[in-house]
Amino acid sequence: MGAVKVKRLERFSAEILEELVGVYMRGYEGLREYGGEGEGYAKRYLHWCWSKARDGFFVAEAGRELAGFIVCDRDWYSNYEGRTVGAIHEFVIDRKFQGRGIGHILMEKGLDYLSHYTDRVELWVGEKNTGAIEFYESYGFRRVGQSGIWIRMVKDLHAKPDKLQDEG
Ligand code: ACO
Repeated sequence: MGAVKVKRLERFSAEILEELVGVYMRGYEGLREYGGEGEGYAKRYLHWCWSKARDGFFVAEAGRELAGFIVCDRDWYSNYEGRTVGAIHEFVIDRKFQGRGIGHILMEKGLDYLSHYTDRVELWVGEKNTGAIEFYESYGFRRVGQSGIWIRMVKDLHAKPDKLQDEG
């Protein structure tokens, strides 16, 4: 595996979308219940992610290959929290790159980004996705609720006060 680089996604072309969808489909192999209903769904969902949180859309490249991505929304109104918090809308590593530490690199980037804007992060993960749940717990996310097959987890951040949005 080549050196891993993390960068903010700068544009969202049809070509890049194809690559993202490939990573998404392969990443969720064996977890299809939680990874949508196929490529059409993935395209729509990733478009939505880009429109909602492009500033927090980070990709990891291993050499020249796209290995995975995380989509962090710094401005998400959570009905469950009753306020605006941060959210991780998507986090996936291509199956062939899983278990090599790339998830950790992306998660650290995402949490650092969010800590500039918010003091809490929310995410939803499939109830049987024990690998991901354990991964999140290792970062201090805790389970706070469930809706259907989805578990809601939150993590408090030590926000950097000079950059908190509501300080005006
Ligand atoms: N394979 C190996 N390790 C896993 C796996 C897996 N499928 N899932 C979670 N882990 C855990 C391990 O326990 C390991 O812990 P350790 O560091 O203490 O040894 C750690 O995660 C592995 O760390 P990385 O190698 O950095 O993780 P990876 O690069 O595989 O990324 C991720 C983790 C994103 C969960 C990845 O396995 C993946 O894409 N899974 C499928 C998609 C998914 O479940 N995404 C999360 C959905 S919820 C959401 O998007 C908000």
